[in-house]
Amino acid sequence: MNQSPRHVAIIMDGNGRWAKARGYPRFYGHIRGTTRVREIVREAHRVGIQALTLYAFSTENWKRPAEELTVLWKLLRKYIRREVIELKRNGVRLHMIGEINRLPQDAQRELRAAMEELKDGTKLHLTFALSYGARTEIIEAAKALANECVQGKLTVDQITEQEFEKHLSTSFLGESAEVDFMIRTSGEKRISNYLLWQSSYAEFDFPEVLWPDYSVEEFRKSLENFKNRQRRFGGI
Ligand code: FPP
Repeated sequence: MNQSPRHVAIIMDGNGRWAKARGYPRFYGHIRGTTRVREIVREAHRVGIQALTLYAFSTENWKRPAEELTVLWKLLRKYIRREVIELKRNGVRLHMIGEINRLPQDAQRELRAAMEELKDGTKLHLTFALSYGARTEIIEAAKALANECVQGKLTVDQITEQEFEKHLSTSFLGESAEVDFMIRTSGEKRISNYLLWQSSYAEFDFPEVLWPDYSVEEFRKSLENFKNRQRRFGGI
């Protein structure tokens, strides 16, 4: 196959281990990881990827020490502030999926303002998954459909895959919601409750490098890997 993936989803794993291996506090890994976010977003835009969804924070990550969480929200805000002009110039549209209302108010405010600022972008849909968990997302979709049935807006037989997808948090991506390529850094080979529905037919890549070492070069290697796959979607 000689095509770029349309939708790439990344689990950015290994910041803590990267810092620990160098004798730094964990947050230092997140700082370095933010630089990688900047570079990978730029490269994704450059090679014409239409959707890039980054797992920045899972529902389980709330268990981390308060100081680490504070650093993460600060970094996210700093990233947005520093990048919004370039993102706009490059036609990037920003989205958030997950329980955004659980985030600190100031982070929510800034994220929403940036989404508004970038709402006309059409080149790359950049989505941060924040306090996101796929099982919750699927249950919420099931509840919304059940409600429509109870209210008589929908019959049970009308619940199809397409109807279901309309209620997932990635529905704004339309057909591009389907993940073509999922990457998890740090050598861990798990999907960890990320985009479970959307990645049903995804190709996977598990580079050994930790996220702070996942350079543009490494990303290009991953994309090369994808191009060498034969995707049959259950056919022959
Ligand atoms: C996983 O590494 C990483 C995270 C939980 C946070 C990801 C956040 C960033 C890359 C920086 C945030 C910035 C933006 C712009 C979204 P880990 O801490 O779980 O590493 P470990 O498995 O080695 O402990």
